[in-house]
Amino acid sequence: MGKENRGGEKPDWDDRYRKGSYDDPDDPHDLLVRYRHLFEGRVADIAMGAGRDALFLASQGVSVTGLERSWEGLGIARKAAATGGLSLGMVQGDAARLPFRKGSFQGVIVFYFLLREIAPDIAAVLDRGGILMYETFLKAGGDAEHPGNPAFLLERGELPALFPGFDLIHYDEGLREHRGRMRATAQLVARKR
Ligand SMILES: C[S@@+](CC[C@H](N)C(=O)[O-])C[C@H]1O[C@@H](n2cnc3c(N)ncnc32)[C@H](O)[C@@H]1O
Repeated sequence: MGKENRGGEKPDWDDRYRKGSYDDPDDPHDLLVRYRHLFEGRVADIAMGAGRDALFLASQGVSVTGLERSWEGLGIARKAAATGGLSLGMVQGDAARLPFRKGSFQGVIVFYFLLREIAPDIAAVLDRGGILMYETFLKAGGDAEHPGNPAFLLERGELPALFPGFDLIHYDEGLREHRGRMRATAQLVARKR
């Protein structure tokens, strides 16, 4: 991610997790910490990575299932859960074919992963009244950090439009500081009608 990956090549997530070149598994996103009180019941973390957010929710007593394609990411999450004595459900799979039943979660979180075509499937796995939390990169000019592949970048106003049938609790687009660098992101927290 960032300047080192602006050419549009496909990132090798197993390699990144093996080298420890991605964010720490014990560093939940601020948005989740801020709105943690909205989550109860079963929560799915789609493209969980090494489990930073799923582990945080699990530490708060929330029942979490993380879906992730990278075996290395899953391995880090598994070790961290064992070390912390936390219960964390994990599924290795492809988010393009979500392996979850409709209405089976009271919460879904998605951080820094974008596959527009599965937005209806993400909405469908949430129960009515369930909470969707989504944060990822916006198209941004200047020096802001972003993935090289433009397919992974949101247009302004696009994220809420991907999820009709939700009532917004929080929506924000802007530049945010992350580990000393700036990123342009969109943040959404919404409740399914
Ligand atoms: C930028 S990382 C974000 C990880 C985590 N959500 C976080 O914020 O730390 C993107 C993650 O998406 C995973 N990923 C990419 N394509 C995927 C797919 N089709 N299905 C499941 N996971 C995928 C990668 O392995 C990587 O762990």
